[in-house]
Amino acid sequence: MPRLVVIYLSTSGNTKAMADAIVNGANSRNVEAKAVNFHEVRIEDIIAADAIAIGTSTFHYKMLPPMEKFIESLEKAKIKAKIGAAFGSYGWSGEAPVMIAEKMRKLGMNVIDPVLRIQYQPMEKDLEECKRLGKDIAIKVKNVAEKHTKPESDSKREDASLQEVKMGEGGH
Ligand SMILES: Cc1cc2nc3c(=O)[nH]c(=O)nc-3n(C[C@H](O)[C@H](O)[C@H](O)COP(=O)(O)O)c2cc1C
Repeated sequence: MPRLVVIYLSTSGNTKAMADAIVNGANSRNVEAKAVNFHEVRIEDIIAADAIAIGTSTFHYKMLPPMEKFIESLEKAKIKAKIGAAFGSYGWSGEAPVMIAEKMRKLGMNVIDPVLRIQYQPMEKDLEECKRLGKDIAIKVKNVAEKHTKPESDSKREDASLQEVKMGEGGH
């Protein structure tokens, strides 16, 4: 089963609630997902994950320095080409998730756009959005996994038929 690890920093539980809802969404699409505080995450979990979502709240127009250091340390964890997503609760400016996504891209990850930001405590409809992100990550992870397991001839055939569709569309 594909794996997602959702890593968060949350001072009063708002971003953690988002992380838990993302996990719910991914689990409901048969992806093995878990939420872990960034202090407690193990390198083995990161290496084993097909997708990594990272969330933090915004403090003084950025993320807190320990989270910044943590993300930079991920270079050692072979995360290049994994699927990434960034999220976080905020109060008025909400820069941190955008900064996370930038750092993930610099590390070579395939990051889902746009980042998910919720103001202060997530309400029911916000948690639904978080679940949606979990489901979107699951769809992306499965697409990548399928591409890797299909015989090369199949994917070539698919690519060729896609090309035909595109060419057809261009003619209208
Ligand atoms: C000292 C302090 C500084 C903050 N600075 C910002 C900020 O610059 N921009 C912003 O959007 N929110 C800011 N916030 C609001 C938090 O991001 C917001 O309360 C968020 O919901 C906290 O989520 P958490 O419980 O996951 O940490 C600040 C909050 C505190 C207490």
